[in-house]
Amino acid sequence: MALPWVLILIVAGAVAFHLASPWWQTPVASNWQQMDDALILTLLITAVAFVAINLFLAYVVWRFRHRDGVRAAAEHGSKALEAWLVGLTTVAIIALLAPGLSVYAKLIHPPADAMVFEVLGQQWQWHYRLPGKDGKLGLTDVRYMSAANPFGINPDDPNGQDDVLVDGQEIHIPLNRPVKVMLRSQDVLHDFFVPQFRTRMNMVPGMVTSFWFTPMKPGRFEVMCAQLCGIGHYNMRSYVVVEPADAYARWLATQPLFAARAAAPVPAGSVSALVAGVDPGHQGRLLAQARGCVACHSADGSAGVGPSWKGLYGRLETMDDGKTVKADEAYLKQSITDPRARLVKGYPPVMPQQQFSGADLDALLAYIKSLGGPAPQ
Ligand code: CUA
Repeated sequence: MALPWVLILIVAGAVAFHLASPWWQTPVASNWQQMDDALILTLLITAVAFVAINLFLAYVVWRFRHRDGVRAAAEHGSKALEAWLVGLTTVAIIALLAPGLSVYAKLIHPPADAMVFEVLGQQWQWHYRLPGKDGKLGLTDVRYMSAANPFGINPDDPNGQDDVLVDGQEIHIPLNRPVKVMLRSQDVLHDFFVPQFRTRMNMVPGMVTSFWFTPMKPGRFEVMCAQLCGIGHYNMRSYVVVEPADAYARWLATQPLFAARAAAPVPAGSVSALVAGVDPGHQGRLLAQARGCVACHSADGSAGVGPSWKGLYGRLETMDDGKTVKADEAYLKQSITDPRARLVKGYPPVMPQQQFSGADLDALLAYIKSLGGPAPQ
């Protein structure tokens, strides 16, 4: 009669895990306490069903175990039992669905005074855009999309000229003010998720999705992508900084406008946008982080999705057609700008194509060179 005990242990273990595990204790930093309430209600209902069904099963296994000379009696159809089952299931399903629908309806209907920012997802980085002084985001179209204009802002739309394009992987927003987040994707399904805000929304190619929230606590909160979007998914992160209105205004004033960017196109997350005045190797390292290169190429020789950059410069690489190529400047530049032209043997053709300025390429090469060449024979 071990089986009933196994079932009871599974129930006790599951309940203890939920009580002791910290995963649901991340503090709420926005107005969406209702998300927690809806989740906890769901957890309670499913927990009661889980515990009751498994304990009942354990009881039945014990009560109707095989005994010599005793035969089980079968009962067919009980109107009263069926009525109870249908009634309880109906109530439980309504209680599971209704709070979620109600919270969702509120989540996608922002108050009229909400400020807006836009998030664009791309394998495997985030771009942010804020409306300028006119409070309006410029029109966009996919045909204007390029590395220098990832949002595809229409260069002829006057509303877009003062749009603020956020450099780097960090958006700032003011404290205690409702914000509406508009979400787009440039390539595949992504999902904008900040656990502390209790909000997340899929970013679907070809659609604009949105939600709103009011940040209630200052701080620096990590954004993570919550849809498996390819090999660099785990590394698709950035930050939302919540700060008082005056600090937010100071930060906003330092961000470039679309008109200035269009006059001197610099791909977003480019070295000249990131830092000036530091040595090219360091610029290259920052660039490799901002563009997501480090998700696949290690700097310490450890195996990754792509070849490690440690000791790469000047090394002989074997290509998938069996030929060997020396990893010199020309080879590295071609591999960065046209990653699928030639493949190193044993690596899959998964590197996305990105645009880099000449200065970006020089910075990346300087960084790769700084990681050393092949060990002497
Ligand atoms: Cu983007 Cu996962």
